[in-house]
Parts: sequence; structure tokens; C-alpha cells
Amino acid sequence: MRKVVLDCDPGMDDSMAIVMAAKSEALKLLAVTTVSGNYPVEVTSRNARKVLEMLSRTDIPVARGMAHPMVRQSPKDPFTHGADGQAENNLPEPKMPLSALHAADLIIKLVMANPGEVAILCTGPMTNLAMAITKAPEIVPMIESVIAISGAFGLNEYAFLNATGDTPQSEWNVYVDPEAADIVYRSGVKLVALGLDIATHFSVNFSEAQIAAFAASDRKEARFLSRAIRFVNDRGFDAYCTIIDCMAVGYAIDPTLVATKAYRVGVETKDGLTLGMTVRDGRHHHVWEQLPLVNVGISADHGRFLQLLSELTLQ
Ligand code: BDR
Ligand code: CA
Repeated sequence: MRKVVLDCDPGMDDSMAIVMAAKSEALKLLAVTTVSGNYPVEVTSRNARKVLEMLSRTDIPVARGMAHPMVRQSPKDPFTHGADGQAENNLPEPKMPLSALHAADLIIKLVMANPGEVAILCTGPMTNLAMAITKAPEIVPMIESVIAISGAFGLNEYAFLNATGDTPQSEWNVYVDPEAADIVYRSGVKLVALGLDIATHFSVNFSEAQIAAFAASDRKEARFLSRAIRFVNDRGFDAYCTIIDCMAVGYAIDPTLVATKAYRVGVETKDGLTLGMTVRDGRHHHVWEQLPLVNVGISADHGRFLQLLSELTLQ
């Protein structure tokens, strides 16, 4: 089993990422850590525990993390995940306690206790991970890898058609805390960045029959997903919005689902038109060697990904 920590800001798609990570037999979910992003950290910490209680997996600790980006105010999300942050599923208030540790400290502790074995799945802004790396830089070579829903790399039309940040070409998680992303990207950690190019592809969709199967299932998490799909459909969005973050978990379970390519990438931290943009240097010549090498997701087998997600949700 691959050991993972899921660092997230649930969020409906983060919630489904927790479902996948907790239910997959290929993964050992050591902890869920939470951060401000889609919603303030109080809400995301509550939502993470609601999901684990829905799954009866209160053995998995939840540690609350950063309440704000490293140097900025939290921006307002132009997309809404609903009043509860979970597509108005209105799950019961959680009873399980939070970990006594701060998310960054729990990440440091788990990585140090399992050197070379823990992959960090980042499906929110990278604030917690950047704090952990800043506080204990010695953990960088001990992290098995970071698999992040992060960036938009201009590889296809989805990269920018579905830009989730509040600038024309940014992805939400980077846009919220570009300084944190910059720290993680430049840290030397083995980073796999799954951007909007592949994670918001319009072929990430469900048939009416599949949605009906989720709605009719005796699994609460399947009914959660069916309601989330209806919630986004009612607001004019396609179903991919409900499962963007799941691709990081899918890739952790089965790396053959996504093809990656190493590119030099820089994160724009200057305010204005391009704030939060992940600039990929794909040139044949004169490449900026000073930019970090990032393994960027360039294509995905969306059919197999959806199959895996459906199976895990319904089982
Ligand atoms: C990211 O934005 C958030 O709204 C989603 O949860 C996902 O992590 C995609 O850009
Ligand atoms: Ca998220």
C-alpha cells in the first residue's frame, strides 16, 4: 500500500478525493490535513471530518492547517461549492475531534517517521506544505512525491477555458497562494502537477445511467456524488467540477492513468493580469534552466479514471 497524506480544502471535489483515498486498497491514508482555500479552514476541517464520518473512517486523523495564504489575504472563489462547501449535501455535523497537531507539523512528523515512503496529495492551496518545508527543509528529500492538482500549462484548450482562479490564466489552488506554490515548486521535491489541462477535460463526465446508479446506491458517498453533480448541472457546469481533485488520488493509485512530461515551470507571484499563472517553458532553445523541473500531466485516460472512481464510490 502506498502511504499518502491528503492535504485539501473540501470543497465537493476534495470530499470525493477523500472518499477515493480512504476506500482504495492501494493506498494507506495516514492523515487528512486541511487548509483555507475553497472555504475558510474552519469549514474545510469540518467538511473533511464529515466525509470521514460518512465513511465510518474516524481512525484517520484530520489536522487543521493554515487559515490564510502565506503573505496574502484569502481571495473570494468565483465558483461556489454551495452554502456548506459540499454542494449542499448538508452532511451531519462531525463529532470526531481534530488532531492536536497543526497540519504542517503532522506532515513533518509523518514524513520523518516514514522516510521516502509518504506521498503528499495536494488538492488545495499549497500553504501547509510550503510551511512544512520552510519549517523543516530536511523533509524535502524524504517526501516520496507531491502529487498536486495545480496549475494550467497551456497544453490544450481546457487549460484556459476552465481557468478556476480569478485571473484569465490561473488555476485556483495556485492563484490562492502563489507564494506557497512557488516555494514548493522550487523546493526540489519530486512534484507531479496535474493541471486543468487534464483534470477539467470535458470528457470527464458521467452518463445519465451512471448518475442514476450513484443516486440509487446504498452508499452515502455515491448519493453525495449524485447530488453534487445535480448541484453543478443546475448552475450550468458539467460534472467534471465535482471530481477535479480526484485525479490526484487516481494517479496515486494507478500512475498509468496519466502521462507526464518534465517541463521547466515558473509560478507568477506578481499581482495583476498573470498572478498565479504557471508559466511552462516549452521552448526548443534558450529554455530558462533556472526554473524548476516539474512533472506536468500532459494526457490522461479519462475513461479508466472514471471507471476507477465509480468502482471505489459504489463499492
Ligand atoms: C481546484 O479548485 C478548487 O475549487 C477545486 O477544489 C480544485 O482543487 C481546481 O482548480
Ligand atoms: Ca480543492
